[in-house]
Amino acid sequence: MARSKVVLAYSGGLDTSVAIPWIREEKGLEVVAVTVDVGQPVDLEAVRAKAIASGAAAAYVADAKQEYADEFLRPAIRANALYEGSYPLSTALARPLIARHLVEVARREGATAIAHGCTGKGNDQVRFELSAQSLAPDLEVIAPAREWSMHREEEIAYAAAHGVPVGATRASPYSTDENLWGRSVECGILEDPAVEPPEEVFAWTVSPREAPATPVYVALEFEQGVPVSLDGRRRPLDQLVLELNRLAGAHGVGRIDHLESRVVGIKSREVYECPAATVLLEAHRALEALVLPRDVLSFKRIVEQRYAELVYDGLWFAPLRTSLEAFVDATQERVTGEVSVKLSRGQATVAGRRSDLSLYRAGLATYAEGDKFRREMAEGFIYVWGLPSRTWASVAAPSARPAAPPAARTP
Ligand code: ARG
Repeated sequence: MARSKVVLAYSGGLDTSVAIPWIREEKGLEVVAVTVDVGQPVDLEAVRAKAIASGAAAAYVADAKQEYADEFLRPAIRANALYEGSYPLSTALARPLIARHLVEVARREGATAIAHGCTGKGNDQVRFELSAQSLAPDLEVIAPAREWSMHREEEIAYAAAHGVPVGATRASPYSTDENLWGRSVECGILEDPAVEPPEEVFAWTVSPREAPATPVYVALEFEQGVPVSLDGRRRPLDQLVLELNRLAGAHGVGRIDHLESRVVGIKSREVYECPAATVLLEAHRALEALVLPRDVLSFKRIVEQRYAELVYDGLWFAPLRTSLEAFVDATQERVTGEVSVKLSRGQATVAGRRSDLSLYRAGLATYAEGDKFRREMAEGFIYVWGLPSRTWASVAAPSARPAAPPAARTP
């Protein structure tokens, strides 16, 4: 009888390669490797071949760049999703998509389990497994790197003993993850949060000090909260993001140094490069400021923060995320217009914005001639608006009252 199968999220790195013979040996399962292309700059054909060479029964590569942009980046942009105010969730957003692909292949192949190469200390294990539980609660999950207790050297020895090709890849002290929305770097010297990230950790951005002295302006067009054109050329979102990563990265834009609070309770120091995300979120917020009323903007900030936490925490497929997204969707109907962003030496600054749906009224805002604001109405407005404040102030607070006289002492 054929052995049961497990579908492994395969990156082509050491951990997931060693996982293939390890799962066969320790669990007695056939491994089907799946590599999801979310824009990581690797040779996917070589990755596929390596999976087979490592002992996988089958290996698939799925081009999911467009799916990633349309179904994950689009809502993240509309929600201005930034975890702890600074991380655009580049790794976090890709995990539920990868999990969905694993589940699809598992169904097709009649597999009984899925597997991933995450360790027991990070967020990614949580994201893969919560996503899988939502989509296919019957599938088992195997996490080899959480079970084995091998160090890097032992892993290399295990690989050699099991015919896993170990390339002449120099051992980098850093752990990285990349996709369209950004690149993350951790470990090595970065584990000391008191030390400035050395230049060598960056790959997508030039040092702002070495960026061109002359700024460049990018013109972005949004339709219902989604960027649709860059410098006048309409682009599918995945291509627009790719192009903007290059453009903004060349001006040193998108470096993020984040002291991060992981789901599993650990504080960690993460460095990110997210050039396109930085520019697009800045521009999107600027356009929203022009077309949305004050109360919608301020309430949306609360929703955005919660939304970002859900994505970070691995709850993409949970009902609260869907519900918050319904609110966000409703706010985006009028978020259509153009934004110009200046890229200069590491900074992305909004230079101008315009929209046919703008709430800005020159006749109301101006201090020059042509002022249409009826300023005589302001006095009445302030009288009514200030009524609760005056009433409150007229009642003396207990702390401001004179101390009560001491109780009479009985002799
Ligand atoms: N700390 C980031 C996050 O939780 C990045 C994780 C990077 N993952 C990795 N496997 N290197 O989203």
